[in-house]
Amino acid sequence: MDALTLLLQRQSVGQLSSPAPQGEVLQRILQAGLRAPDHGALHPWLFLIAEGEGRARLGNMLAEVATERNESAESVLKARQAPLRAPMVITVVAKAVAHPKVPLFEQQLSAGCAVMAMQMAAQAQGFGGIWRSGPLMFERSLHRALQLAEQDQIVGFLYLGTPSVDLRREPYADLAAHVRSL
Ligand SMILES: Cc1cc2nc3c(=O)[nH]c(=O)nc-3n(C[C@H](O)[C@H](O)[C@H](O)COP(=O)(O)O)c2cc1C
Repeated sequence: MDALTLLLQRQSVGQLSSPAPQGEVLQRILQAGLRAPDHGALHPWLFLIAEGEGRARLGNMLAEVATERNESAESVLKARQAPLRAPMVITVVAKAVAHPKVPLFEQQLSAGCAVMAMQMAAQAQGFGGIWRSGPLMFERSLHRALQLAEQDQIVGFLYLGTPSVDLRREPYADLAAHVRSL
């Protein structure tokens, strides 16, 4: 698949089964993330990879935080099981630092770009993924459980695996609704 086709046909897939990307395929996915635009060459990225039992450990952390938030038993169970929806979940962290010219926001945007780059690198190699989020990713207690620093912010959970459905090809969005000339 050429680069432009990949950009135009990028899509998310939530129905993911084994195998997850491994070996050189996974390395290329991670390297694509590390090519995200990066103001000031701060490299503000950390990728926490959960597969196998690691997904259960992540689920337990999420459930604990949901419990601390007094969420319903149903929500706590949902949080615990969330990472099991794919064979691999990469928690993408903006490792932002105070900088005179590069606000935290820009560093977080850079980490967001890394999520999309990794999703596309997965798709380019025959795998699939979806960027998920949720209120728990802002909770300091989750950050502590993941041994993150004070200014770190989780920007998303990239679920990766083998698509178990055919990828759909939707028409492109209506350009006129989103673009105007100045
Ligand atoms: C920052 C961010 C957070 C998202 N969080 C979720 C989420 O928690 N759950 C979800 O189903 N989709 C979430 N999405 C949307 C999906 O990643 C995906 O973009 C959407 O399902 C549309 O599919 P498409 O990417 O193929 O157009 C999020 C997207 C972004 C950019």
